[in-house]
Amino acid sequence: MLPNVLQPREADHVPVLAEEVRECLAVGPGETVIDATFGAGGHATLLAADLRGKGKLIAIDRDPTARTYFEQLAKRTTVNARLLRGDFGVVLPQLSGNGVRADAILLDLGVSSMQLDRPERGFSYAADAPLDMRMDPTHDISASDVVNTWSERDLVTIFRRYGEERYAKQIARAIVRRRREHPFERTGELVDTIKAAIPTPGRFGEGHPAKRVFQALRIAVNDELTALETALPAALAMLRPGGRLAVISFHSLEDRIVKRFLQEKARGCTCPPDFPVCVCGKEAEVRLLTRKPVRPSARELDDNPRAASARLRAAVKQ
Ligand SMILES: C[S@@+](CC[C@H](N)C(=O)[O-])C[C@H]1O[C@@H](n2cnc3c(N)ncnc32)[C@H](O)[C@@H]1O
Repeated sequence: MLPNVLQPREADHVPVLAEEVRECLAVGPGETVIDATFGAGGHATLLAADLRGKGKLIAIDRDPTARTYFEQLAKRTTVNARLLRGDFGVVLPQLSGNGVRADAILLDLGVSSMQLDRPERGFSYAADAPLDMRMDPTHDISASDVVNTWSERDLVTIFRRYGEERYAKQIARAIVRRRREHPFERTGELVDTIKAAIPTPGRFGEGHPAKRVFQALRIAVNDELTALETALPAALAMLRPGGRLAVISFHSLEDRIVKRFLQEKARGCTCPPDFPVCVCGKEAEVRLLTRKPVRPSARELDDNPRAASARLRAAVKQ
């Protein structure tokens, strides 16, 4: 843990869809900005610059390693900045309940480079490491708990639902068989079990054979979709009229939640078209800034292949 905290790296800071986020959030001097996924502070640095010395930055992250990056940013900026450590699914409703209001809110979902590139965090199938995957190391469930104690049926469900894994059944069965003899401790053991469980033709194409199961475990361990579902209404409630919300997602499950939420909030009257007057009284709460998700340009992908699956959606509160 300690080396992570002490050695920030340049690559940790590369923010995805940075100019597009800036354009959507259109932050101006004197505003209050919330970066609910501070990470290494790549986006927050740009948004703080857009405050031009006046305004407030509230940073949130559940990973304690974010503090080192936050302290670096706090030293460089004259804006009023503070970091709140916690799950945005909890912190945003708390802030909203305490009457905090914002002009711009960003959620850049998923894991950061500072997590993926530190093998000891156990997020990566590319390096052998303890099977952990917790964004918050004090969280009580790690990937090894899920793999060693959840029922075969629950493993199948998460591999299918969160990983869209075609061989979910075969992989869950192989995991349960192996853990009876040797509980899983390391990512390498899980990768080997996954590879052996997938029929040979399935091991080629569609990326690394363990990619989808690792994604599923990460989502389950960190309860990522629940956090997102709770955070979106809280974020909208906190925005002042004219306030902007931007969300970057990295897989279709997240993007679907964001898309449905924003479309529902952008819809006005839902009365049948043959009603002479509106009886539902529903008014649009937001105006969409992105009809379709914004994807990274070819140029960005050349520089940062990790941005490949990023999709940005944004809206302005009415
Ligand atoms: C993709 S990174 C953000 C990178 C950041 N925008 C930057 O430019 O450096 C996502 C960050 O959000 C954090 N995170 C993910 N889910 C979270 C949650 N539910 N609550 C708080 N932080 C979360 C992760 O710990 C990670 O640091």
